[in-house]
Amino acid sequence: MDTFIITIDGPAGVGKSTVARMLAKELGAIFLDTGATYRAVTLAAMNAGIDLTDTPAVLEMMDRTAFNFKHDGDVLKVTFDGQNATEAIREPKVTEKVKFVASQPPLRSRLVKLQKQFAAQFDKVVTEGRDQGTVVFPDAAFKFFLTADSKERTRRRHEELATAGKEVDFDTLHEQIAQRDASDENRTISPLKPAGDAIHIDTTDIDANGVVNRMLEVINTKHG
Ligand code: DC
Repeated sequence: MDTFIITIDGPAGVGKSTVARMLAKELGAIFLDTGATYRAVTLAAMNAGIDLTDTPAVLEMMDRTAFNFKHDGDVLKVTFDGQNATEAIREPKVTEKVKFVASQPPLRSRLVKLQKQFAAQFDKVVTEGRDQGTVVFPDAAFKFFLTADSKERTRRRHEELATAGKEVDFDTLHEQIAQRDASDENRTISPLKPAGDAIHIDTTDIDANGVVNRMLEVINTKHG
């Protein structure tokens, strides 16, 4: 069975998860947040006291740990060794350290394999990340690349954190987002960049509904 795949890539805080979740619902598809796979490995290594720069040790930990990504309504439930880590992988201490996993080719190739295996189980998947259209699913039916001004992305993240009861300083958050952009764009392996055939959407002045509608227009025009 060939899976019908739509990829959504873009920088931190651009709204990929929100939009991917909404689009998946509209299309009756499964939603895959690939950032969660990088976060899960980072947290599992941290919990095991492994030095994140020690790639062989992280690989060995991955070999003996059962990572599981499963849908529960429209939430992607993340567990390792049966332990629920769905919320813990979003903690700032994980966000700060995830670049060590994201920049190591052997770790990325394991996670890419896992992402492909996950998608292969379903008929339709909307997947989001940094390299979904370029590296993981180059033959996807539709590829979108989202952008937004970094101040606007910071504002969205700030609001999201406030809703979750977490107050953070705006300028600090802006600085962290800028650092993540630099790390995502400048790493040698699978840097954040649009696929040649990706459809670009600048979301600075469009809300999530507007972005999903734009995507549905594209999909229905070509596919409908
Ligand atoms: O989307 P996110 O913030 O949950 O992603 C966490 C980190 O994982 C991000 O800083 C870069 C990395 N990542 C990646 O390198 N490739 C992906 N496909 C998804 C995320």
